[in-house]
Amino acid sequence: MEKLALDVLDMYLIHWPVKGKYNETWRALENLYAEGRVRAIGVSNFLQHQLEDLISNANIVPMLNQIEFHPYLTQPGLVEYRKHNKIQVQAWAPLMQGRIFEVEELKILAKKYGKSPVHIVIRWNLQKGILTIPKSVKKHRIGDNADVFDFELSQDDMLLIDDLNKNERLGPDPDNFDF
Ligand SMILES: NC(=O)c1ccc[n+]([C@@H]2O[C@H](COP(=O)([O-])OP(=O)(O)OC[C@H]3O[C@@H](n4cnc5c(N)ncnc54)[C@H](OP(=O)(O)O)[C@@H]3O)[C@@H](O)[C@H]2O)c1
Repeated sequence: MEKLALDVLDMYLIHWPVKGKYNETWRALENLYAEGRVRAIGVSNFLQHQLEDLISNANIVPMLNQIEFHPYLTQPGLVEYRKHNKIQVQAWAPLMQGRIFEVEELKILAKKYGKSPVHIVIRWNLQKGILTIPKSVKKHRIGDNADVFDFELSQDDMLLIDDLNKNERLGPDPDNFDF
């Protein structure tokens, strides 16, 4: 926080569910939250069984779980689990790290709505109630990517994107990763 020159952080997450460590780390985050040093605490890359284990040892339920989420990896069980525990899901790699431009169905939807595949995917996230953090290093793209509030995907088109799921990860599997 000294390096960031901030007194309070908006949010602080545990990056990966390292077995044997995350419960202790969570206690440290709970303390920071109690001290008012962070406004929200959460986790990243936690699967349901890791969330259940953490919650059974915790005083505070994580406020957010940042997971890999895109048309080829929709993790429906984990997304549904948030509803019972009020854990906000946030999508990392929502644009499949640039690969969404290869998905034919998204190109067709983009044409139908007069938007880009990026807009279609961001809108699909928002309509599902999923926070999303699409990244670009280009200023004009950051502005253009946010142009998603002048159209709405139909229910059928939402389901069409849901059905693209292939359980295909771009990043490591949280049950089997190596630091
Ligand atoms: N919690 C975790 O374990 C975890 C893991 C990975 C990533 N993340 C975070 O998730 C965020 C996003 O994920 P990500 O960067 O991996 O993938 P992403 O947002 O799915 O994709 C980023 C890629 O899309 C390109 N892009 C963005 N807008 C575009 C546009 N309008 N037209 C064409 N290309 C476009 C970017 O290129 P340009 O930059 O050239 O525009 C970049 O190559 C980042 O903040 C990252 O730190 C978290």
